[in-house]
Amino acid sequence: MAIDTLISEAQIQERIDDLAKQIEQDYQGKDLVVICVLNGAFIFCADLIRRVKNPIYVDFMKASSYGDSTVSSGNLKVDLDLKVDIENKHILLVEDIVDTGLTLTNILERLGKRKPASIKLASLLYKEARNIHPVNIDYLGFAIDDLFVIGYGLDYAGKYRELPYIGVYREDS
Ligand code: IMP
Repeated sequence: MAIDTLISEAQIQERIDDLAKQIEQDYQGKDLVVICVLNGAFIFCADLIRRVKNPIYVDFMKASSYGDSTVSSGNLKVDLDLKVDIENKHILLVEDIVDTGLTLTNILERLGKRKPASIKLASLLYKEARNIHPVNIDYLGFAIDDLFVIGYGLDYAGKYRELPYIGVYREDS
């Protein structure tokens, strides 16, 4: 097996600088609650929030969708829910990758019922070709082709999350 670099460490860090500046400006004077969607977003979220100079409250959520990924549904299995009450708060969800969009559609629907003042989404990656459930990504790192990627928080069977770059896993050679 081999890992081909798709997005280098330097490219990721440069892009996060840009996103952090944008977020800083957009939330000027507002209290921001960042929700890190576990597991995959933990590294992206850690790098992002350390560059945003506004005061931030951070919380974590872990959830996965089950059932047919082509069918929009409320099938969300929540393994870890928020501790914070998000009513009237400005929420920034931080995710690693939007693939079919199913997980985020379900998470957004669930959080929307808790009446936050606003909800925006930051995602490091977006697989445009796979998107079945359209979600609006307010702060996007990179749009990528339909490839299975690992590294920078993303895993293959729990491994490779620690890589500082985004790579494409290849079984052969
Ligand atoms: P969605 O509900 O189809 O958008 O799936 C989103 C979740 O699937 C992400 O949060 C990841 O955990 C996982 N995922 C999707 N594509 C990849 C990939 O290329 N590498 C690793 N995990 C992925």
